[in-house]
Amino acid sequence: MPCYSSLPALIRDAAPRTPLLCLSPRRITERVRLFRAHFPGETSWAVKSNPHPRVVQAIVDAGIRTFDVASRQEIDLIRHHCPSATLHFNHPVKTPDDIAYAIHAAGIRSFVIDSPEELEKIDITVDSMESGLRSVITLTIRFRSKNAAGTGNYNFDEKFGIPPQEAAALLQLAAHRGYRTGLTFHPGSQNRRPESYALSIETARDIAGRAFPQGEAALSHLNIGGGFPCAYPGGSGPSLHCYFKAISQAASDLACPLVCEPGRALVAESTSLLTRINLRRKDDSRLYINDGIYGSLMEAAFVDFQPPARAYSADGAAFPEDEPREAFQVWGATCDSLDRLRQPVCLPSAIRTGDFIEFGMMGAYSNATATRFNGIEPAGLVGVEEIAPWSADAKHA
Ligand SMILES: Cc1ncc(COP(=O)(O)O)c(C=O)c1O
Repeated sequence: MPCYSSLPALIRDAAPRTPLLCLSPRRITERVRLFRAHFPGETSWAVKSNPHPRVVQAIVDAGIRTFDVASRQEIDLIRHHCPSATLHFNHPVKTPDDIAYAIHAAGIRSFVIDSPEELEKIDITVDSMESGLRSVITLTIRFRSKNAAGTGNYNFDEKFGIPPQEAAALLQLAAHRGYRTGLTFHPGSQNRRPESYALSIETARDIAGRAFPQGEAALSHLNIGGGFPCAYPGGSGPSLHCYFKAISQAASDLACPLVCEPGRALVAESTSLLTRINLRRKDDSRLYINDGIYGSLMEAAFVDFQPPARAYSADGAAFPEDEPREAFQVWGATCDSLDRLRQPVCLPSAIRTGDFIEFGMMGAYSNATATRFNGIEPAGLVGVEEIAPWSADAKHA
């Protein structure tokens, strides 16, 4: 992977014509350290947030050894980079083939379910293999964290999760069938209410108390999901320390191990997207760039937050601080009219065709979701030693 000292140096040396994701692995190390220092349990990582091999390697180098995987491809990816890793197959709906592959070929012993039907599916697959397997497999029941409603940009409870009153029965059923058991919830990505984690931890205790005489002590773990936010502009949300504090208080006397599986929070701030302006019409506030919602910026089409942005001239120089600025409408690289950023971007008024825009906090759900629509290749990835801080960075960490 080519590596540059900074984005301006990259522009000066390479003047890239295609979009580039610029990764600073050091930033991943810092985020992992933060979680490992302050989260009161084990930090695993949701691979779906960025399966680029260089990002996976940075996560492994930073010391993460436990992963949330959602497919056979993610299993293979992690086994390649970290053969001894502990994998949790936390997609609540799996194919029988993928369950068999996970158990047999990849040695996975931990699965999430949220229905008796998925339990049946696992029963059939497990029973077709060696005997005694049930007793070494943990089935983690995903419940709906009703407390989290409205706290994230994605509500993760519409698609998956069983209501708490049914979760106790499913826990009992799984235990009765001879499995180890756990509980999990996901409080919504880019969650903005630390207390929603605490409330859902209470719900988990309650579910376990209804299912087992010894309560949560009977569980292999409580996995509180991901959802930890990044400091996108305009969101004066609580810092990560508020989340760690709320979770630590709620889990201070928890009788089972606690796990989290952030995606965004470990990788988003490690990467900037460098795009080039393909066209600015004369005296017009529309900019046409060489990436867009069918590429690295897909998430911006669906959520109410947008990455921070700053401009460089075609030779890599920053625009002077006192340069007049205005709001631009940014259009993506395809012919589709949907391919635009939802919110205007404030940039120097003098910006023109051939200049560059850096979008920050682009290390999660960027290359992971990029398509080749219109025949346009997704952004490549290069290394950078430094990403200049965004104004909200300091407040956040
Ligand atoms: C089961 C599960 N865990 C963790 C995550 C990571 O969420 P986030 O990136 O908001 O931390 C996701 C995201 O889709 C998920 O589905």
